[in-house]
Amino acid sequence: MIQSRLALFASGLLALSAIAATALAQAPAAPQPDYHPSFGDLMTFAVQPRHIKLGIAGKARNWDYAAYEASELRNAFGRIGRTVPVYRKQALPDMFASAILPSMDKLDAAIKAKDGKAFDAAYKEVTTSCNNCHTGLDHAFVVIREPTASPYADQNLAGKAEGAKAKGKSK
Ligand code: HEC
Repeated sequence: MIQSRLALFASGLLALSAIAATALAQAPAAPQPDYHPSFGDLMTFAVQPRHIKLGIAGKARNWDYAAYEASELRNAFGRIGRTVPVYRKQALPDMFASAILPSMDKLDAAIKAKDGKAFDAAYKEVTTSCNNCHTGLDHAFVVIREPTASPYADQNLAGKAEGAKAKGKSK
């Protein structure tokens, strides 16, 4: 008798939880708030790290990676221009085209030619272009410089050179 009452109670609980689950499934999903990155956000996470990695890789003459990262940086400027089409009443894609892309073109040519000296000169020009734009848009206090060390401890930006050294050591 007690057993059958318990069984009844248990099946009642099961039914209740099934109803609760259905109610949950049918509740309209709360809308996810959209994240709209600001220009400063995009500079911080799409431009700055790539400028650093590009500099470290280029100085190590890691041309395959430098070619990849130069293209990533260029495409980031393209995406930022589409995300923030107008900044201070000026078309941002046009600003990138005049402020930074000419120096990026020189960088690409140097990487393609595997010309270390030309890379160093073009990278310097890219970095100056970053700062010229910051100054021109009232952000002169955002000062970019050439990185001297990589903050990315988990990534080999030097490419083969560093890999070869590590291999030699382990022998
Ligand atoms: C078209 C002009 C322009 C170019 C080119 C440009 N920037 Fe910027 N950058 C800005 C502006 C404007 C801000 C300030 C954005 C804001 O906070 O509203 C900024 C902000 C920044 C910041 C500040 C983020 C922070 O919180 O400290 C960094 C870092 C940065 N830029 C890196 C770079 C680097 C590296 C380059 C070159 C590879 C570059 N920028 C090229 C316009 C530019």
